[in-house]
Amino acid sequence: MAMSQEQLTVERPTGLESWRDAPPVLFSAEKVSRRVRTLAREIAAARSDRPLTLAVVLRGAFVFAADLIRALIEIGVRDLTVEFLSVASYRGMASDRTRPDVHYVNGIFPGEGRDVLVVEDIIDRGHTLEAIERALSSHCERLRVCALLDRPHLREVPIGPHHVGFTLDTDDFVVGYGLDLDGRYRELPYLGRLPAPPRA
Ligand code: IMP
Ligand code: MG
Repeated sequence: MAMSQEQLTVERPTGLESWRDAPPVLFSAEKVSRRVRTLAREIAAARSDRPLTLAVVLRGAFVFAADLIRALIEIGVRDLTVEFLSVASYRGMASDRTRPDVHYVNGIFPGEGRDVLVVEDIIDRGHTLEAIERALSSHCERLRVCALLDRPHLREVPIGPHHVGFTLDTDDFVVGYGLDLDGRYRELPYLGRLPAPPRA
């Protein structure tokens, strides 16, 4: 089927002419910002009386987490602490991509008596989130998950976030706003998409 000229035109971000090969826009910076502020209200409405720890999953969630924290503070959420995790799926013969390792950046995870909200960039097959839940669930009162992006159609384990920024129904690889492809594009202020999914 022939595509119209309009369909062939790819929206490019404005003000980013100096970015070479800037990926097309999936969600603009303004749209992301509005959604993050709405998410903050949803999270505040669903929280308990217990103090809250945000467990930020490095590195892809760092921009999202920074904006989310400021949005939470702006609407009056207090009793908030921030911790960092990193998740590594090693490649090679000894690796098991379905059981990535979770590392606490501060050595131990101080979640006793607190609610923990995992802040993740994107949930795909679900193995990363499953490993995080396995690692944290016995170290806090209540574990919940907030993901900027969710791609439920690629899920391999029955798991899902409680709060979602945007649900995707395509296989496009998403970059920008903290998300990278081999270390590139994290600095883009919007969420862009790359057509070829370079997944393992
Ligand atoms: P999974 O849910 O275990 O398949 O893996 C999710 C992780 O893969 C995320 O935390 C990201 O680090 C990475 N990832 C998956 N899809 C994308 C994408 O479209 N862009 C950037 N990173 C991605
Ligand atoms: Mg990630």
